[in-house]
Amino acid sequence: MRKKLVAGNWKMHGSLQQNALLLERLKAGMPGVQCAVAVCVPHPYLAQAQSLLADSLVLWGAQSVSEHASGAYTGEVSASMLREFGCHHVLVGHSERRSLFGETDAVVAAKFVAAQKEGLVPVLCLGETLAEREAGHTMAVILRQLSAVIDHAGVVALASAVVAYEPVWAIGTGVTASPAQAQEVHAAIRVRLAELDSGLAGGLKILYGGSVKPQNAVELFAQADIDGGLIGGAALVADDFLAICQAAN
Ligand code: 13P
Repeated sequence: MRKKLVAGNWKMHGSLQQNALLLERLKAGMPGVQCAVAVCVPHPYLAQAQSLLADSLVLWGAQSVSEHASGAYTGEVSASMLREFGCHHVLVGHSERRSLFGETDAVVAAKFVAAQKEGLVPVLCLGETLAEREAGHTMAVILRQLSAVIDHAGVVALASAVVAYEPVWAIGTGVTASPAQAQEVHAAIRVRLAELDSGLAGGLKILYGGSVKPQNAVELFAQADIDGGLIGGAALVADDFLAICQAAN
């Protein structure tokens, strides 16, 4: 039985004051939560997350990482810097990074490896656009994005990673994938990995992300291959995020 994980992706939201309120509410709500919980905060707030969450069960992480270890890369943040601030997870290949910041499959694979080198758990985000789904290309896109990482890092690297299926058309739109649509893709990811390494495939956590709310979380998380969620908008509202975490109980 895989332990569920619910991770919040705050995206570019927050302030010191708002974060403190939100994190204190999350900490207070943890006794009612059985799954693993993480928040991925903007880089400047990592020190705040580290100091406020150190004595709690809530893990913290980042939303992006450089593929480079150090050097003349103005504006970038390395995996060793994230580790110094106690990060557990880091998102790689979020669709907003791919579409708005030009991150290719190859760059995502390099970031995945850079994160693991420093002991961080990469959360590898995969997802198709609406046009790709309507053209019947969903599985081809997901498997291409997954293969780019496997080809670069080796399939065993997935043993210390998390995968998140986030259909681009469901992110921030209020339109969630139906539990059956999500389950179909999650199962396909697991089958693909099982072909390469059957032991590993059964233990891999595959999260669903895209308009997860307290109202739809129970049904999504009840699917056989959905091991929790990657939550955007609802992660900014303590009661909603806690309700989603409880849906994973
Ligand atoms: P929403 O939950 O706001 O749709 O965002 C999902 C997401 O992008 C999480 O990474």
